Amino acid sequence: MELSEAIEKRRSVRSYKEKEIEDEKIREIIEKGQCAPSAGNLQARDFIVVEGKEKKRRIAKAASQKFIEKAPTVIVVCANKRRSAKKYGDRGRNLYAIQDASVATQNMLLTIHAMGVSSCWIGAFDERKVKEILNLPKNVRPITILPVGYSDQNPKPPSRKNLEEVVHKEEW
Ligand SMILES: Cc1cc2nc3c(=O)[nH]c(=O)nc-3n(C[C@H](O)[C@H](O)[C@H](O)COP(=O)(O)O)c2cc1C
Repeated sequence: MELSEAIEKRRSVRSYKEKEIEDEKIREIIEKGQCAPSAGNLQARDFIVVEGKEKKRRIAKAASQKFIEKAPTVIVVCANKRRSAKKYGDRGRNLYAIQDASVATQNMLLTIHAMGVSSCWIGAFDERKVKEILNLPKNVRPITILPVGYSDQNPKPPSRKNLEEVVHKEEW
């Protein structure tokens, strides 16, 4: 699949079949996440792969989004604040680490789509609870929850704003 096609056709999918995702696919998804740029190439991001039923149930509850637990695999992309702060101080801690994790997430979503699998960027969740469920260290912040699963859903593309509305020339 061409890159531009993957970018245009990717959709947030919120219903998954029970069929498991092959380990090699999960590995490739994370490898492509790691291909993303990062500030100072510090790769201030970590990935937690969750397949245990009970843990997925608790994560879904912490997000109040039940469909998450139906995914055979859930990947939580985390910002490693300490890794970036060592070199960049507050800007690394509060911005670059989050950007490193976010840009990896988008690579992962495109990879997932291109391999015929589905996912959805989950950003709304109780951070404290997710940290506790995953036993995350103090300096690691969960940024995105990615439920990964096969699906037969093919949602219609939600509309996007016209470029005229969002593009500014020279200044605001
Ligand atoms: C920062 C961020 C947070 C999001 N959080 C959620 C979420 O918690 N639950 C959910 O179902 N979708 C979530 N989404 C997915 C958006 O709803 C979705 O991307 C948007 O409606 C556009 O649809 P599309 O992804 O199919 O293009 C989130 C997306 C982003 C980028």
